[in-house]
Amino acid sequence: MQTLNILGCGKLGRTLAHLWHRSRQFDIRQILNRHSESAHKACEFIGSGRAVGQWQQLQPADVWLIGANDGSISELARQLAETGLVRQDDVVFHCSGALGSNVLSPLSQGTALLASIHPVHSFACANNSLTHFAGSYCACEGNTEALARLRPAFDAIGARTLDIDSHNKPLYHAASVMACNYLVALMDASLECFESAGIEADQASKLLLPLVSQTLTNCLSSSPREALTGPIARGDHATVARQLEALQRHNTHLAELYQTLGRRTLTLARPKLDDERHTALKQLLDPL
Ligand SMILES: NC(=O)c1ccc[n+]([C@@H]2O[C@H](COP(=O)([O-])OP(=O)(O)OC[C@H]3O[C@@H](n4cnc5c(N)ncnc54)[C@H](OP(=O)(O)O)[C@@H]3O)[C@@H](O)[C@H]2O)c1
Repeated sequence: MQTLNILGCGKLGRTLAHLWHRSRQFDIRQILNRHSESAHKACEFIGSGRAVGQWQQLQPADVWLIGANDGSISELARQLAETGLVRQDDVVFHCSGALGSNVLSPLSQGTALLASIHPVHSFACANNSLTHFAGSYCACEGNTEALARLRPAFDAIGARTLDIDSHNKPLYHAASVMACNYLVALMDASLECFESAGIEADQASKLLLPLVSQTLTNCLSSSPREALTGPIARGDHATVARQLEALQRHNTHLAELYQTLGRRTLTLARPKLDDERHTALKQLLDPL
């Protein structure tokens, strides 16, 4: 079994390592985090591995995951290169969606095999991820041999891998961020409006779940254009004006968000609207 060390083992690292340990894909060896207490917690969650508090304690491994936040990956690669622990044909990879494997270039002086594999999965809740990771897509780029060594471990925990060109990663990641993180921000905005309308958070969440699930299903099983309903799709100027006025009274930031997303919605609705309705709605939704 290949050995695995992890530099930066947070939400993503501990979930993947737990799954790999359980499926006997890697022998999880050492975990180095910023804080040793956090590394100990990661080992506890994984059910394997040994927390190390200092770089000098690290030992070689066949595979290294740099699982720290994106801003620290290049510096950790540089520090790892300096230790001289990475041997010929050892694999070093990271899981960032925005960065290519070239961010690991301090390690390319030797003959380490470098790659990146980005799971299109939200690791917000570790226990949920243990149950639901299988079926997630993972975008791979980097050294062919490194990927040939890593893919079986991802396949074994149910990942579906696809190739991505490193030049396209910033746009590819922006797409994931909009669908995942901005959906969270949108739900937060919606919950705030419900609360101001006198509907409590618990009730509002129950109300949103079927609406959002149904909309997502319609949108992704047909197309956003076909899934679109509501006042903008109907060209209902008076309703949009009333909502915008209420939002401006309540919170101008929410009114701006409504207008920004409204302009994108109007583009989707354009084929259904005559010029007069379209122009009237556009005037409402354009920034003041
Ligand atoms: N979260 C997701 O849903 C998700 C999805 C796909 C890809 N990713 C990618 O996965 C990577 C990790 O994200 P995450 O959400 O797991 O981050 P996270 O939960 O914030 O964990 C980051 C870990 O890295 C450690 N760390 C940070 N700087 C370090 C340093 N200089 N030396 C040693 N350890 C360091 C932190 O240690 P401490 O705990 O001691 O602070 C922490 O344990 C990122 O590249 C991210 O883009 C994340």
